[in-house]
Amino acid sequence: MSAEPAFKPRLAAIPDPGEPKIVAEGINKTFINRENGEEVVAIENLDLTIRDQEFVAIIGPSGCGKSTFLYMLAGFEDISAGTLSMDGHPVTGPGPDRGIVFQEFILFPWRTVLRNITLGLEMQKVPRAEAEAAARKWIGLTGLTGFEDAYPATLSGGMKQRVAIARALAYNPEVVLLDEPFGALDVQTKFYMIRDLQTLWQEAHKTIVMVTHSVSEAVIMADRVVVFSARPARIIYDERIDIARPRDALDPKVIDRQREVTEVLSAEVDKQMRREAGRNPLGN
Ligand SMILES: Nc1ncnc2c1ncn2[C@@H]1O[C@H](COP(=O)(O)OP(=O)(O)O)[C@@H](O)[C@H]1O
Ligand SMILES: [Mg+2]
Repeated sequence: MSAEPAFKPRLAAIPDPGEPKIVAEGINKTFINRENGEEVVAIENLDLTIRDQEFVAIIGPSGCGKSTFLYMLAGFEDISAGTLSMDGHPVTGPGPDRGIVFQEFILFPWRTVLRNITLGLEMQKVPRAEAEAAARKWIGLTGLTGFEDAYPATLSGGMKQRVAIARALAYNPEVVLLDEPFGALDVQTKFYMIRDLQTLWQEAHKTIVMVTHSVSEAVIMADRVVVFSARPARIIYDERIDIARPRDALDPKVIDRQREVTEVLSAEVDKQMRREAGRNPLGN
């Protein structure tokens, strides 16, 4: 018998988790409410290890501390207690090793698509030709070819979002942080973006941390789904999604996982609703 290696479809392999990339231990975050001076504990004693090239989706009720956690990883928000490290070094501020796509993505209206994408590289004093080459690569991968010279005002919401994603990826960060990246998109655009981002992730070998409030996005896209509790955020679910890609929303395995995550999440949302009666916990 010939020992032929098994055929692996390009998108089907689920990679084994790599070395620890981001390690959060005993993280606490307390804000002081400016109006009444009261303490708001956003995150309490949170432990989470994210491995190299893992795609982790973080899901949880609105206001539970997801964005806060992502901003800590980005280095924009300091931690009140605990330790947070990347590649064994404490996170002390933003750096080119991490790219972030904010919940409210911001493009510069007076800059073309190409110039929006080269911005971060220009700020790092990367030579113009090199910056443009990197930008053009991501323009191609995010399906923006032909729109290099367009201004943001002439683009659809989906295309603007692609520019924001291309900008975060152009300076080749090892870690990509996404805060509800599809929130502003219509269903159809969202479908294409989700598909594209799965492909991008597989081709680019990045570590991705994506905050979302959509169970279906989390289960369709991620290697691992982590559910945060209502504030203060603790981890109440953390499971690997061992389903081959590309994933089909109608695959019974996908549906089962979505049901499982939805149960955990709805119990938590109910708890929060009872606590904050009169407020819609899923509203933004
Ligand atoms: N700069 C801040 N000052 C005071 N409170 C804040 C600040 N940022 C976030 N919070 C509070 O921390 C909690 C978590 O917020 P956030 O991380 O934005 O939630 P999520 O992204 O899960 O919806 C909320 O109660 C929010 O009001
Ligand atoms: Mg948020």
